[in-house]
Amino acid sequence: MIDIRAEQRTDITGIDDIIQRAFGSSDEVNLVRLLRDAGKSVVSLVAVEDGRVVGHVMFSEVAIDPPHDGFKGVGLAPLAVLPELGARWVGSRLVRDGLELCRLAGYNVAVVLGSERYYPRFGFSRASDFGLGNEYHEVEYFFAMELADGALVGLNGTVRYQPEFSETNC
Ligand SMILES: CC(C)(COP(=O)(O)OP(=O)(O)OC[C@H]1O[C@@H](n2cnc3c(N)ncnc32)[C@H](O)[C@@H]1OP(=O)(O)O)[C@@H](O)C(=O)NCCC(=O)NCCS
Repeated sequence: MIDIRAEQRTDITGIDDIIQRAFGSSDEVNLVRLLRDAGKSVVSLVAVEDGRVVGHVMFSEVAIDPPHDGFKGVGLAPLAVLPELGARWVGSRLVRDGLELCRLAGYNVAVVLGSERYYPRFGFSRASDFGLGNEYHEVEYFFAMELADGALVGLNGTVRYQPEFSETNC
C-alpha cells in the first residue's frame, strides 16, 4: 500500500534520490533543498511504500505583479514519482492531497508550469485565459486553478515564483 503524508526529516535523502531519478537532473533536487531550508515550503508531501519514498510534491508561495489585494497563491513544483513505479496514480494523489492542504492553509489560487495532458484533470486551466502570465513568458504550459470560488476573477498580472527557482535554473 502507498501512503501519502507530510515529509519528515528522515525522508530528505529519499526525496533527493527520487527527484534526481524522475528528472535526471540535480536542479530540482537543489530547488527543493533551498526552498525547505529557507522555510518557503508551504506543503511538502511524500508517497511512501514499504518505508521507501516513491513520490514527492512541493508547493511554495507565488506573488503577483502588480500586487492584487486578496491574492494568495501557491506554485506546484516540483512533482516527482519513481519512474519504474508505473501508472499507479501516485502523482495524482500527491497533487490532489497537496492542493487540498494548500486550500485549508488559506491559499486561494494554485499555478503550475507543466503538461497540458496531465494538469487539467485536477481542475487547472490555461492561466492566460484568466489574464495571468509568468516571469518565464511561458503561455502554453502555464496553468491556474481556484482553490476558493472567484479567486481568479478580475486578476491580471505576472506570477512570480520564489527566487530559488531561477537560482537553480528551474
Ligand atoms: C509526471 C509524473 C509525476 C506522473 O506521475 P504518475 O504517478 O506516473 O502519474 P499518475 O499515475 O497520477 O497519472 C498517470 C497519467 O499521467 C500521464 N502522464 C505521466 N507522465 C506524464 C507526463 N510527463 N506528461 C503528461 N502526462 C503524463 C499518464 O499518461 C497517465 O495518463 P492517463 O491517465 O491519461 O493514462 C511522473 O511521471 C514523473 O515524475 N515524471 C518525471 C518528472 C516530471 O515530469 N514531473 C512533472 C513536472 S511538471
